[in-house]
Amino acid sequence: MTAPVPFVDLAALIRPSKQDYLAAFERVLDTGGFIGGPAVAAFETGFARYCGSPHAVAVRTGTDALVLALRALGVGPGDEVITAANSFFATAEAISHAGATPVLADVDDATLLIDAGDVARRITRRTRCVIPVHLFGQIVDMAPLQALAAANRLRVLEDSAQAHGATRTGPGGEPWRAGSIAEIAAFSFYPTKNLGALGEGGAITTRDPGLAERVQRLRDHGQAGRHEHVDVGYNARLDALQCACLSISLARLDAGNAARVRLAARYREQLAGAPGVRLVAEPAGSSPVHHLMVVRVDAARRDAVRERLAAAGIATAIHYPRPIHLQPAYAHLGQGAGSCPVAERAANEMISLPMYPDLTTAQVDRVAAALRTAVG
Ligand SMILES: Cc1ncc(COP(=O)(O)O)c(C=O)c1O
Repeated sequence: MTAPVPFVDLAALIRPSKQDYLAAFERVLDTGGFIGGPAVAAFETGFARYCGSPHAVAVRTGTDALVLALRALGVGPGDEVITAANSFFATAEAISHAGATPVLADVDDATLLIDAGDVARRITRRTRCVIPVHLFGQIVDMAPLQALAAANRLRVLEDSAQAHGATRTGPGGEPWRAGSIAEIAAFSFYPTKNLGALGEGGAITTRDPGLAERVQRLRDHGQAGRHEHVDVGYNARLDALQCACLSISLARLDAGNAARVRLAARYREQLAGAPGVRLVAEPAGSSPVHHLMVVRVDAARRDAVRERLAAAGIATAIHYPRPIHLQPAYAHLGQGAGSCPVAERAANEMISLPMYPDLTTAQVDRVAAALRTAVG
């Protein structure tokens, strides 16, 4: 039997950078500064520049980045925040941790990204903020959302956890990069992300120096100066070792993204016209970074298709099998089945195929051929 195709192989992915990571570790160990300091500042400067945003603040996780961004925006108890029903649970969880109430909106059937029309329908007088999620590495169509936000005085927070380096043409023809479009954005550096830490990590980016300062304070127990706590904050700092390693990975991010783009194009080519297989649409002007390679098949056959792929040595996953409004933790929201029909249908149809920079073209061809057979 040919070698299995894993869903992702992190050990293989970091192998080419291993010596550089070890050297970075040694540099940090020699300074003895593990919290804050030059490695953190250097990563923040580099990441802000990469995103085309004036400020980046590194925090402990992507979930913290969302919570601290919401708190910096002044979102809290009594407020409603609208986000996509098909995101990772953390997007809604962060809203709850900020003390607000999540409201889940449906998504566009072709792109699976949040549907501005459905967001508009869910705005109430308590709505304070909207969190578009750049899901699977593709940027949401931001112009209609920003118009809605302006008309309804809503704050906008981009969940960019899956979209480091993705771009989309703005209304004036300018390229918009994830993390630089709304007033504030949250990123995750979970190890499998396009930019992954060697453990947990996250960051916010913002063009507003006041928001950056607020997040800096909140990540450090709300301290404005030593032992002067002006907010009830968190211990949400990202440590120097992670930042030193992230700077190394950041220098390789574009190469990794370019490989993902090539592999996604190959998948699309190999799956073009395959009966029973639907691809996620990539609208003109959108340049996704393919954090995930998601296809859709008939819901009634999805599990059997995955089993056939597994039997052929191909690992797959589902992102995400149950929309957020149908999770037990959010039963009290009262957004039952049928409230986000597109997200609900897609949840039963999606399969995530292997996608990472060192996947080979031959492996993509094998996965695509196996998928055609499994569906057919
Ligand atoms: C869309 C999205 N939002 C938020 C998060 C939370 O990030 P983290 O796991 O770093 O807390 C993740 C990833 O895990 C994500 O994919």
